[in-house]
Amino acid sequence: MKPTKNSTLEVISPKVHVDDEFIVTDYEYQTSHVKRTAAGQLQVHPRTTSLKIRTARHVPKLGVMLVGWGGNNGSTLTAALEANRRQLQWRKKTGMQQANWFGSITQASTVFVGSDETGTDVYVPMKELLPMAEPNDIIVDGWDISGQHLGDAMRRAEVLDVALQDQLYEQLSALKPRPSIYDPDFIAANQLDRADNLIKGTKLEQYEQVRRDIRDFKQRSGVETVIVLWTANTERFSNVLPGLNTTSQELQASLKANKTEISPSTIFAMASIAEGCTYINGSPQNTFVPGLIELAEEQRVFIAGDDFKSGQTKIKSVLVDFLVGAGIKPVSIVSYNHLGNNDGKNLSAPQQFRSKEISKSNVVDDMVASNSLLYRPNEHPDHVVVIKYVPYVGDSKRAMDEYTSEIMMGGHNTLVIHNTCEDSLLATPLILDLVILAELSARIQLRSAEKELAPWVPFKPVLSLLSYLCKAPLVPSGSQVVNSLFRQRAAIENILRGCIGLAPISHLSLEQRFD
Ligand code: NAI
Repeated sequence: MKPTKNSTLEVISPKVHVDDEFIVTDYEYQTSHVKRTAAGQLQVHPRTTSLKIRTARHVPKLGVMLVGWGGNNGSTLTAALEANRRQLQWRKKTGMQQANWFGSITQASTVFVGSDETGTDVYVPMKELLPMAEPNDIIVDGWDISGQHLGDAMRRAEVLDVALQDQLYEQLSALKPRPSIYDPDFIAANQLDRADNLIKGTKLEQYEQVRRDIRDFKQRSGVETVIVLWTANTERFSNVLPGLNTTSQELQASLKANKTEISPSTIFAMASIAEGCTYINGSPQNTFVPGLIELAEEQRVFIAGDDFKSGQTKIKSVLVDFLVGAGIKPVSIVSYNHLGNNDGKNLSAPQQFRSKEISKSNVVDDMVASNSLLYRPNEHPDHVVVIKYVPYVGDSKRAMDEYTSEIMMGGHNTLVIHNTCEDSLLATPLILDLVILAELSARIQLRSAEKELAPWVPFKPVLSLLSYLCKAPLVPSGSQVVNSLFRQRAAIENILRGCIGLAPISHLSLEQRFD
């Protein structure tokens, strides 16, 4: 079985069946269930469940609607799609540069598939494991409170080399963001001067306009699936109150009653769910109030978030995992950032900074909780996050982190990391991965192979598989948040492998270790 038309990979296994519609695999799912006895012992019960996993082979024509289309991320994604589609090259002072997707796991990373007869590890591009949307085929549309067309938005962002911008300007100038919902109570007051492209009316009327926009895009572009993704400015947190937004009914009633505490991002998410479109939140605010999560669950529409995990937090979710896993005890983590783009300007307001601070703060919790030899219950490292707006550095964000850990015999180890990086060039490939993996997730289902005629079940509406790409992963109720980047990536790889009948990567390599 060849998972995709152009794949170099072919799986030869009696457990994989392919027809015109589906790739179906017989899968032995092995887990361990732990019981605590009254005496404090842990009893571990290994379990094997026989499953069937199926993946629909038809990749729908994918449309992505960005809220905040004219921002640094939105304009950079649009430009990057076009640059890659046209395979553009441009001159830098160091030589010729070609368009690429570095930083995207689906487009620029590989997955271990096994060892060949000489014992050499063999890898294939992740995108060859299963049929996935091709970036070149994705159509982008969206909304922005700033009416600048995408050509000017790309120039305003000051992210891409000028020689590349010049090749794209004319084409991007034809793209204009749709008017959007502006509520000065939710984003920083300093954004007022760009708010010139607005949907007027009550919250319900705004919601209905967004729904019409989604339908209009679908109809004009001919896409089969639309994913809506928030890459607009960070909002302040919404209050969560009984009677306001704690159930789907309350939320819908509050929308109709034009309650001020319903944020623009929540209105977008509600409209997206009503249109059956996956909604992804790339910013830290609590768009997904309990009533919104209930709405997604009732309508069985995917939601995922929160906040792109691009730079500093990504490193943190690697480094703390390494330290705690090595038996070293991080006791103080201090993170400074300064940046000069419009995101930084918005985050210079206290309430919007608070959203980011919360999102960045919980990232080490699961790793700390995993090691009771190092940490007492509820003990945490000191963890401080500072963000400052420094216009001169523009999109070139600086992140400085100091990790102090206790090592053997009361000794200390201090690691200091200084990271300078174009912020939007890290975030944009994540947007691509988020939409490609979200679309793929909609085509994967499993069922028990132990019961005749067990129904096929999809992923739960809260799509935790995208946690790898999110700073503050939203998970279904009753599930544990996983921040560790290695675990998050392993989940993606192993689920994709399971879809083509390959066992999870165990790194046992028994054939190489034993005679
Ligand atoms: P940006 O400020 O350049 O772009 C945001 C855009 O959203 C602006 O064009 C603004 O006019 C628009 N906007 C604001 N409110 C809107 C609304 N209600 N409806 C439609 N458009 C609206 O910011 P950037 O750098 O593109 O970042 C976007 C978001 O992604 C921010 O919230 C940021 O915190 C988040 N993020 C960015 C990361 C990165 O760039 N590395 C990493 C993690 C999160």
